[in-house]
Amino acid sequence: MKAIILPEAGEAEKLQLTEIPMPEIDLNEVRVKVKAMSINPVDVKTRSGKALYSQLKEQEPVILGWDISGEIASTGKSVAGLEVGDEVFGMVNFPGHGRAYAEFVVAPFHHLAKKPANITHEEAAVSTLAALTAWQVLKDQLKIQAGERVLIHAGAGGVGHFAIQIAKHLGAYVITTTSAANADFVKELGADEHIDYRATAFEEAVSSVDAVFDTVGGDISARSLACLKNGGRLVAIAGGITEEVKAQAAEKAIQALPYLVQSSGNDMKSLAELLEKGVIKPCVSHVFPFGEMAAAHQQIETGRTRGKVIVKLED
Ligand SMILES: NC(=O)c1ccc[n+]([C@@H]2O[C@H](COP(=O)([O-])OP(=O)(O)OC[C@H]3O[C@@H](n4cnc5c(N)ncnc54)[C@H](OP(=O)(O)O)[C@@H]3O)[C@@H](O)[C@H]2O)c1
Repeated sequence: MKAIILPEAGEAEKLQLTEIPMPEIDLNEVRVKVKAMSINPVDVKTRSGKALYSQLKEQEPVILGWDISGEIASTGKSVAGLEVGDEVFGMVNFPGHGRAYAEFVVAPFHHLAKKPANITHEEAAVSTLAALTAWQVLKDQLKIQAGERVLIHAGAGGVGHFAIQIAKHLGAYVITTTSAANADFVKELGADEHIDYRATAFEEAVSSVDAVFDTVGGDISARSLACLKNGGRLVAIAGGITEEVKAQAAEKAIQALPYLVQSSGNDMKSLAELLEKGVIKPCVSHVFPFGEMAAAHQQIETGRTRGKVIVKLED
């Protein structure tokens, strides 16, 4: 089968389209014929030798990618609730070796959910790592309650555009940061307030929020402390929380925590319900063929992607 391997860490051109043997499945795994996959910043970071690279390079060949949508081609004997021919989507083996850049992907069945019939494989493929991150952070980490005010950084990005919609679904009042070009986009997603982070220092425009979701990193968590109420909550997914931020947060009794998304079929089922009802709508801004994976990585590297980037396999 066709797969894209990473013989060594480096630039996008290191990604190599090749033939490898069909992967075997274990008792609790399924083999999925992939229709579409989504590309995330963690793919790019791992490709360049950061993030999960040191862990993956022990298991050659390194095959990046975690997000898939496709059709089950075979099932292990202990698989329950899924059958050959079912259309499924999910984030496979994260944080581990997803091996998603391939025609066929082997996945533990409990990492997947059935794809809603009303969305395409492209839409399903992007509603995986980024959507799971938004769901797990807002629902389980920040525990957003109806009526709370939440500041979501980078609302136009892969995680951010799902986070706005999920926070609205949970009943929150949503304030978000983007460049001016994405103001209308995030308002259409349901954001109550928009801040152009290039024109305005967000910490001067926002106060007394209950929760902050930092999807940007750098100094954003430190600056966001000024926006939070005493006793508020902050979760950062890009770069963690420094000791300095932790100490400053403690002075206002703010809980400031990092978070790393985890594969979960149950959470995928919750997202499938929201997608089916039209409560969340994924934005696919760029579609690349399988042979142009390097270009898909370069799009993510711009740091300016609206919504999500996918790579499609031919039927
Ligand atoms: N820990 C975890 O479990 C986890 C999970 C998912 C992602 N992440 C990390 O979270 C980060 C975001 O991921 P993603 O998939 O959402 O990335 P992404 O889709 O590539 O983000 C691109 C977006 O970021 C916006 N942006 C860039 N700088 C900004 C700033 N200073 N303020 C506000 N918006 C800004 C851009 O909007 P404009 O063009 O309008 O500027 C663009 O729409 C990445 O570092 C990723 O690795 C971590």
